[in-house]
Amino acid sequence: MNRAFSLSSELRTRIQQCQAHVVTVGLGYVGLPLALTVHEAGFPVTGLDVNAERVGRINQGEKVISYFPEDRIATAVGTGRFAATADPAILTEADIVLICVPTPLSGKREPDLTYVIRAAETISRWVRPGQLVVLESTVWPGCTTNIVKPILEKTGLVAGTDFFLGFSPEREDPGNDKFSTRSIPKIVGADDSESRDLLEAFYSKIVTKAVPVESSATAEAVKLVENSFRTVNIALVNEMKVALDAMGIDIWPVIRAAATKPFGFMPFYPGPGIGGDCIPVSPVYLSWRARDVGSETPIIDLARGNNETAPDRIAFRVAADLNQRAGKAVQGAQILVMGIAYKKNVEDTRESPALGVLRRLEAMGARCDYHDPYFPEMPMTRDHPDLAGRVSVTLTPETVAAYDAVVVTTDHTDVDYALVGAFAQMIFDTRNVFDGNGIAVPAGCLVKI
Ligand SMILES: NC(=O)c1ccc[n+]([C@@H]2O[C@H](COP(=O)([O-])OP(=O)(O)OC[C@H]3O[C@@H](n4cnc5c(N)ncnc54)[C@H](O)[C@@H]3O)[C@@H](O)[C@H]2O)c1
Repeated sequence: MNRAFSLSSELRTRIQQCQAHVVTVGLGYVGLPLALTVHEAGFPVTGLDVNAERVGRINQGEKVISYFPEDRIATAVGTGRFAATADPAILTEADIVLICVPTPLSGKREPDLTYVIRAAETISRWVRPGQLVVLESTVWPGCTTNIVKPILEKTGLVAGTDFFLGFSPEREDPGNDKFSTRSIPKIVGADDSESRDLLEAFYSKIVTKAVPVESSATAEAVKLVENSFRTVNIALVNEMKVALDAMGIDIWPVIRAAATKPFGFMPFYPGPGIGGDCIPVSPVYLSWRARDVGSETPIIDLARGNNETAPDRIAFRVAADLNQRAGKAVQGAQILVMGIAYKKNVEDTRESPALGVLRRLEAMGARCDYHDPYFPEMPMTRDHPDLAGRVSVTLTPETVAAYDAVVVTTDHTDVDYALVGAFAQMIFDTRNVFDGNGIAVPAGCLVKI
């Protein structure tokens, strides 16, 4: 029996019996739901995170992520088979290591793999024969093989023989109540058959379906293709919104009607731009790697540019309409920005277009406040450190009426839009919350942009 086969058979048995100890590296929006889902499938799980404060809160059973069921973490911790730690020595006990660390953009808006490299270096100190290491962070095609593998192999152990290595892209959609980590099929890719089979065996126990592909690079490409598809379609629908608006046509009923076509059309909806850790970031990884290998992605790049300037376009439109419809200059106007999260029902402002709108309006001389039930206080962010500490305005008839305009940038569910509709002087709705929810607004007060 060869070494790889005997080591993988041992791990396969532990997977089949749900005895393999799983360590997730990174307990953020992706790593924590994944760690809990693996635990809920019956495996003992330890979450490793460098953020000791977050580790402490998780071990106390705190909810940590707003859209989680109230007691999900507490229940997991209570079983004694789920815990968090900041001590990397836990990796010695791991049979399976899942890497879920950030892959942001650098200051030059290029792929920044610092976190992945650091995590791989940490794992390399503890990697041992028979372990399965899986990268889940979004990366460019070739990263697992060209970046992570050499770091782990510096130990003298060989991937596919002594330990097993692959890539499985995360498809988490924070706040989506239709699909959970468990119900979303998972792509699994590896460069050797032992690793691929182990990935498939493991993830088949965790999620509804594991879909094997031929290599780590193929699996990495799947994620970038999915997200670039979204990027291009969001740019397209925003472009169509502006064009139809010029023809006097509201795009929302158009999309609703088009979506009745049972094939060949998938609805995307207009908004103030794109945000989060995925959609704005993945296409950059794809186009950077394309250039790196002498190719190019002009359509994706055009869509990226269109999405990046979307918040500015919204702000300019607000300024123009304030002037034209209300006879007010944006200079000195008091504007309430509703929602600073990058999308509805999440407490996440990474790459949020709402902050771009707010910032552009202020650059034009407006005085902006915000309302967001997920952020009583504006968090410290890499892109907007100077906005930190501002406080969410409480919605009352008086506060709402005091603003020259309200701009809806995020369509959180738990917001009193009826109150806003009744008392706002002027509303700019980028998300169709008023018409979409049948909320009455006095004639002439609502502008869908
Ligand atoms: N958030 C999403 O919606 C989403 C969806 C799909 C894929 N992804 C991808 O998943 C990856 C993780 O994203 P996220 O949203 O969970 O990020 P996050 O910032 O929410 O969480 C990352 C966590 O990793 C921890 N960390 C960083 N370096 C570490 C290290 N060396 N060791 C241990 N812990 C470390 C951080 O402290 C943080 O808690 C990224 O590549 C992202 O692109 C994110």
